[in-house]
Amino acid sequence: MGYIKEQIEVIKERDPAIKKSAEVFLYPSFYALLFHRIAHKLYKKDHFFIARLISQLGRGLTGIEIHPGATIGKGLFIDHGMGVVIGETCEIGENVTIYHGVTLGGTGKDHGKRHPTIGNNVMISTGAKVLGPFKVGDNSRIAANAVVLQEVPEDSTVVGIPGRVVKVAGQRVNPCKQLDQVKVPDPIQMEICKLKNTIEVLEKKLGQIESITHIHTSMMSHDHHCTVPNCTGKEVCENYRKDHYEGKEERND
Ligand SMILES: CC(C)(COP(=O)(O)OP(=O)(O)OC[C@H]1O[C@@H](n2cnc3c(N)ncnc32)[C@H](O)[C@@H]1OP(=O)(O)O)[C@@H](O)C(=O)NCCC(=O)NCCS
Repeated sequence: MGYIKEQIEVIKERDPAIKKSAEVFLYPSFYALLFHRIAHKLYKKDHFFIARLISQLGRGLTGIEIHPGATIGKGLFIDHGMGVVIGETCEIGENVTIYHGVTLGGTGKDHGKRHPTIGNNVMISTGAKVLGPFKVGDNSRIAANAVVLQEVPEDSTVVGIPGRVVKVAGQRVNPCKQLDQVKVPDPIQMEICKLKNTIEVLEKKLGQIESITHIHTSMMSHDHHCTVPNCTGKEVCENYRKDHYEGKEERND
């Protein structure tokens, strides 16, 4: 009875589509987690075969495959459900939401702990794959179809393949300045950063050359064709020369 009450609360809180409490019995999440509760208890008592059997019955009914070894916290909600896979050594915190098509799996490279640890209040969007024995920090959001292969800091939004952090605590991440913090190597992004830096340096140099050319043109020409704002002729440029140029030439030389 306690389980039903808990599920009604969780589903009402997370899914605006539910109208009546009785609809809770129509949600695959309800049955998948019920089967898992039983299977997990048997798994912990080393009744591995019967635990797997119950887990597979749950999968057949709901399309959600939860290995009986997975540790699941309070308040998990699996919306729609079909195609969800949760691996044996996966740990899920409290109040997590998972959509259809999500895999919390391994990469095939690790032994022992092979699956992710999901923090509290995390949302894992439809089609996302989180692969490997790392942590996804509390309150983070994994975008639809992202493939996450490395640790995710708290309060982050991760998008793309491979998954990269685009927001932390509601603020957009500047990948050129915060690449280390992100810790998700994206070779294309890194190349773009290098190009951006080179363009910045070139723009600075061009600016210096332009200001010097401007002074020379102003000083040497009677017909003043200068396009610099507020420059009305030789006099202004002479002043500009005194303020900005004298001494600079020596430095540039
Ligand atoms: C990730 C998500 C939760 C939004 O989180 P958010 O923290 O509000 O992030 P924002 O919407 O501000 O997006 C941040 C950036 O990521 C990009 N982004 C968002 N979702 C993305 C996705 N799935 N794939 C690629 N990029 C994505 C945005 O375009 C934005 O890019 P920009 O900074 O260049 O403009 C949302 O986009 C999402 O994927 N929701 C899916 C939920 C779901 O599964 N629904 C199924 C219901 S049946």
